[in-house]
Amino acid sequence: MFSERFLDDKSLKKIDKKFQQIISRTGVDNKTQDEVFDKYTLSTIEKLISDKIIDMLDFPISTGKEGNVFRAITPKKKFIAVKIYRTSTSTFKHITDYIIGDPRFENFRNNRKDIVHVWTKKEFKNLQKLKMIGVKAPKPIVFADNVLVMQYIGDSKHAAPMLKDVIVENPQEIFDTIINYIKVMYKKGKMVHADLSEFNILYYRKKPYIIDLGQGVLLKHPRSLEFLKRDIDNIVRYFKKYNIRADAKKFYNKIVN
Ligand SMILES: Nc1ncnc2c1ncn2[C@@H]1O[C@H](COP(=O)(O)OP(=O)(O)OP(=O)(O)O)[C@@H](O)[C@H]1O
Ligand SMILES: [Mg+2]
Repeated sequence: MFSERFLDDKSLKKIDKKFQQIISRTGVDNKTQDEVFDKYTLSTIEKLISDKIIDMLDFPISTGKEGNVFRAITPKKKFIAVKIYRTSTSTFKHITDYIIGDPRFENFRNNRKDIVHVWTKKEFKNLQKLKMIGVKAPKPIVFADNVLVMQYIGDSKHAAPMLKDVIVENPQEIFDTIINYIKVMYKKGKMVHADLSEFNILYYRKKPYIIDLGQGVLLKHPRSLEFLKRDIDNIVRYFKKYNIRADAKKFYNKIVN
């Protein structure tokens, strides 16, 4: 449905115009617009609009290195989150570390756009898996090319903050939940997040939500145990600030054995 498309200038102009109307209502500045919304991405967004998955982009929640996340509104006036990976300026230094070795993605051609598409699909699949195994994370809705649509975590005013930006009331409980999620991902999901830290966990209604699953790998991946160890180390390190003293090695051994 969302495969490569060739658009003539006239249809591109139409899309541009419509899209300008959509984003003029948002707080997206010109620099972000230029970087994120290349013509290809515009046409993908346009397709999501005509398929009635989104009605408009509301505002950017985050503008990062690899992509941007927007809050969007559905035709039924619900909030959703739209993550747009950059196809033009993505840095692929690490990206292939995670895709190579994953049997789900053996047949991708090695060019920038293909890699970003595979990355987006990989994040979508990993989110589906988390839903299946009961790890709290945004529910995936659809993906198209370099665009991933998922559940929005937050309320009508603000997107949920990252764990690093809040003082949690219940640190021991949050810590235990996250360690348990790492274990459930490993045991039930046969996967490792591989970039887990206080930056990729949202705190919403006193619960942790795991996000940013693009680099998640299956246990078959040659470096999965190294990534698992790093994930556990990051969490144990972070919770020291709450005086939670835990032995990362012990958790690692418990999980893998
Ligand atoms: N489903 C969501 N609901 C609400 N906010 C979200 C959602 N997904 C992502 N965000 C916000 O967007 C930010 C970036 O998302 P994410 O971590 O998935 O991207 P990223 O790949 O880390 O981007 P980069 O590393 O380039 O900054 C998150 O820290 C979070 O604040
Ligand atoms: Mg992130």
